[in-house]
Amino acid sequence: MKKILVIVGSGLKNGNTDKLANAFIKGAIESRHEVTKVFLGNKMINGCNGCNACRWNKPCVQKDDMQEIYELYEQCDMVVLASPLYFWTISSRLKAFLERLYAVACKDDHPPKGRYERHANKDCALLMTAADDFFWTFEHAVSYYRFNCINYLGWNDKGMVLAGGCGGSPTKRHIDDTPYLKEAYTFSKTLE
Ligand SMILES: Cc1cc2nc3c(=O)[nH]c(=O)nc-3n(C[C@H](O)[C@H](O)[C@H](O)COP(=O)(O)O)c2cc1C
Repeated sequence: MKKILVIVGSGLKNGNTDKLANAFIKGAIESRHEVTKVFLGNKMINGCNGCNACRWNKPCVQKDDMQEIYELYEQCDMVVLASPLYFWTISSRLKAFLERLYAVACKDDHPPKGRYERHANKDCALLMTAADDFFWTFEHAVSYYRFNCINYLGWNDKGMVLAGGCGGSPTKRHIDDTPYLKEAYTFSKTLE
């Protein structure tokens, strides 16, 4: 059983991304994982100020909703990042969450990946939705996820669900009409 923290970087409750995250969560709970969902649309999380007051092992000076998420982050085995594609990358809400992980890095004199920081060892996954569905639609977001979450933070990627072609406007099909909710549900069922 894993403790899974699902971070939903959308502002739209019950929107495409929220639904995709819920489908993932349903499968995870049925597979007896313990899931905590954080909907960032209800939270106030600033981006990092870059003051460096947090180096090393000191708490972040910003007293916003990230404080409660730090606790959840510390306790979890897996972080699932869910985001709508905004201007071809992850949402600013999700980016702010990731920036604030700067405050929980530890000093590492012998880093395996050439950096002086060490981050907690977590599994991770990416869930995204977008209106367009070109072969390159998620290219920047996936590249960022790979570079930042896997290469830099050192998390272990467990997979992605990239739900292209689900806009909110009347001319675009909604995520309910796509196979992606089932894909997210099935994906979380495969987690060990
Ligand atoms: C500010 C904004 C920017 C967007 N940028 C893109 C984009 O660059 N590419 C794209 O395919 N869809 C884009 N979309 C569409 C959303 O990614 C898509 O409708 C998504 O499923 C919305 O998720 P939500 O229902 O969780 O808000 C954008 C939507 C908004 C509101």
